[in-house]
Amino acid sequence: MDATTAEPSVLTIFGATGDLSRRKLLPALYRNHVAGRLAPSMQILGVSRRQMSDDEFRVFATEALDKAGITGPDAHSFVARLHYTATPTSHIEEFRKLRERLESLRRAYQLPPNNCFYLSLPPRAFAPTIAGLGQVGLNEPATGGWTRLVVEKPFGRDLQTAQALNDTVHEFFDESQIYRIDHYLGKETVQNLLVFRLANAFVESSWNRERVDSVQITVGESLGVGTRAGYYDHSGALRDMFQNHIMQLVTLVAMEVPSSFSADAIRYEKLKVLKSIAPILPGDAVRARYGPGTIDGQSVPGYLDEDGVPADSQTETFLGLRLGVESWRWQGVPFYIRTGKRMPAKTTQIAIRFRGAPVRFFERMGCQQDTADVLTLSLQPNEGFSFHFDIKVPGNPLKLERVPLTFGYGDRFPGAMPDSYQTLLLDALQGDQTLFVHGDEVVESWRVCAPLIESPPPVDEYPAGTWGPTSAEHLAIPESELWQATHD
Ligand code: BG6
Repeated sequence: MDATTAEPSVLTIFGATGDLSRRKLLPALYRNHVAGRLAPSMQILGVSRRQMSDDEFRVFATEALDKAGITGPDAHSFVARLHYTATPTSHIEEFRKLRERLESLRRAYQLPPNNCFYLSLPPRAFAPTIAGLGQVGLNEPATGGWTRLVVEKPFGRDLQTAQALNDTVHEFFDESQIYRIDHYLGKETVQNLLVFRLANAFVESSWNRERVDSVQITVGESLGVGTRAGYYDHSGALRDMFQNHIMQLVTLVAMEVPSSFSADAIRYEKLKVLKSIAPILPGDAVRARYGPGTIDGQSVPGYLDEDGVPADSQTETFLGLRLGVESWRWQGVPFYIRTGKRMPAKTTQIAIRFRGAPVRFFERMGCQQDTADVLTLSLQPNEGFSFHFDIKVPGNPLKLERVPLTFGYGDRFPGAMPDSYQTLLLDALQGDQTLFVHGDEVVESWRVCAPLIESPPPVDEYPAGTWGPTSAEHLAIPESELWQATHD
């Protein structure tokens, strides 16, 4: 999170020819390259099962950048950093060859023994790859260097598998070497949530059960499952969005003020929040899947009609639930969560609904006085804040009107926001774990989900293009009190 250039190292990407690498990792590394944030001698080694030469991998990367709208001389200097090696199996011989390749790169580019391994792999490949690295000693930092491991989501499918994966990782790597990615933590506005809370004393003094009536987190996407049914149907909204991204947002909203702005202090406070959340009971959650409907005037098929979705699927594309953080700060304040695909718009938003004025003078005088002040933190698509409160309309008779006070990132800081992966890759290369998830956090968040996994509520249906099924309406702040915040 600081502005220095990352130290020279070799970044090894497992799954380098996969979708994430093509769409996110290579463009993010390119942007860091152009911004001068990568050491000039840093090298990137792509690894995957496919046979390819270095040059073919450079062509693959150039095409990926091209698709991301990136061309020109910088693209040439960037792809010159790229190398490739195929590991068709997880046999130890392959990892020995990998070690030799890393050593020869280090000699050729006079690099210190700094290694970052990025696992952009299907979950079943995590454990064999980690074990392979360990068996040939690539887990151990050499004298004067460092070794880091970046692991993509999903980290386990439930409490048991997450614990087992943590055990495998810890057999070979120390927690201080591990960077579990949750790309939501790399979003600028998510980071700003911490700054907003911790740099402005008035916010903290209202950020508690005395002042806050309820919190609502909405993560809506207008896209459907697209071509990802093979993955998504085994996952659903609970595993795909709630256990990771949304639980991370909950921790940042609910955590206590840390003792410093350091990775350890922040992650310690986040873990305390997770430990204070009781497992969510099936009666406090609604699962549903989208049926056919209309988005932006276009008819779209229902989930069961999407390519690759089994006809008897019981997977949810929407999850609405209520949870409570049983801490002194938040006891009794409901946290309402809703996330779904095929909603009317892409929107990620945290709404903090404050308690209304204790005495309602103006109502007694015949004015309409709205009940709650709502602070909305919009994470996407239009990053910013808005706070809605009552003012007097000029003139007579006395009349109140609800107006927003708004701050839009785009208005104040025109230009593109850094992409999450750009931020997170750099943090991993710089050894800053603040925006990565600790192993204990993952386990606690699966613990919170356990009853929903063991006894999932039945799957209801909602028409595509709506904010979810009516059966979930009681798990939300009434729309009339959100001041159109979700819908404008
Ligand atoms: C991913 C999920 O982790 O996050 C996807 O697997 C989802 O299903 C995506 O679409 C949403 O990310 P963002 O940054 O577009 O909100």
